[in-house]
Amino acid sequence: MQLISGKLIASKIEAGLVQGGSMQKVLAIVRANADSASAKYVELKIAKANKLGISTKLIEFPDTTTKDEVTAAINKLNLDPTVTGVLVQLPLFPNLEGFRGEILNTIAPEKDVDGLTAVNQGRLQLGESAFVPATVGAVIESLRFSQWPDDYDFGGHEAEFANWLKGKNVVVINHSALIGRPLADILLNYGCTVSVCHEFTQNLKALTTQADIVVTATGKTQLFDHNFFKTGAVLVDCTSVTTPHGPTGDIILSPELEAKVAWLTPVPGGIGPVTIAYLLRNFAAGVN
Ligand code: GUN
Repeated sequence: MQLISGKLIASKIEAGLVQGGSMQKVLAIVRANADSASAKYVELKIAKANKLGISTKLIEFPDTTTKDEVTAAINKLNLDPTVTGVLVQLPLFPNLEGFRGEILNTIAPEKDVDGLTAVNQGRLQLGESAFVPATVGAVIESLRFSQWPDDYDFGGHEAEFANWLKGKNVVVINHSALIGRPLADILLNYGCTVSVCHEFTQNLKALTTQADIVVTATGKTQLFDHNFFKTGAVLVDCTSVTTPHGPTGDIILSPELEAKVAWLTPVPGGIGPVTIAYLLRNFAAGVN
């Protein structure tokens, strides 16, 4: 088993951003939750953005906030020409979750750097130019790295990469708009056979043991040992849960796993750093 270096992928993406020039515009982050993991994630995004010379504006709401107050703030950001990217950090306060679609769809699609509006998700599904949600982009780049570890470049070797993906059996264990659904759309457009799985999936192991590529993002942790995977599989673990022993993912490490699978994104140092770099690239470079 070899490790997919998220740090290397992120550094390549960030190097491309530095060369990308104009960084005068502002990335606005709307936070309407009381989730500590989410707060930390927002902190990391802002720190990395500022380090790369990208200005940010954080708008935080108290738990008494109404849906109308959040959408009014987003509408204001939509009209502000200095703000060219708007993202609403998820999850929302419980009383706002019922309005998640309405809140996200208030973001102007051309500023939707997280790719979560219905317009962006639909365009992505149809194979049209669209913002790719950061975690989805990070998965795709991690798969690319697995084929060109010594010669990895962002978006590089695209024709050969497309050829490699064609016909692959892929299991995605996540069905959200943030990861599973848009990832399945992209992989389908590459010609993969995709199984999108979730907590009600029956006999998940029967599917994962047939998969050339498994992408997990359950948000739980330490669920899948080597018995779940096929020899030579490529594994992408998007989960990162803070435990007393540090961050851990869905996949259980063992000597048996190391002897069996070809590639794994480690936790930490795998998908995490790539998602932030990918988001900032979406912001700096605009739609694909
Ligand atoms: N919550 C966890 N990950 C994400 C993300 O990538 N974007 C947003 N908006 N919320 C999240």
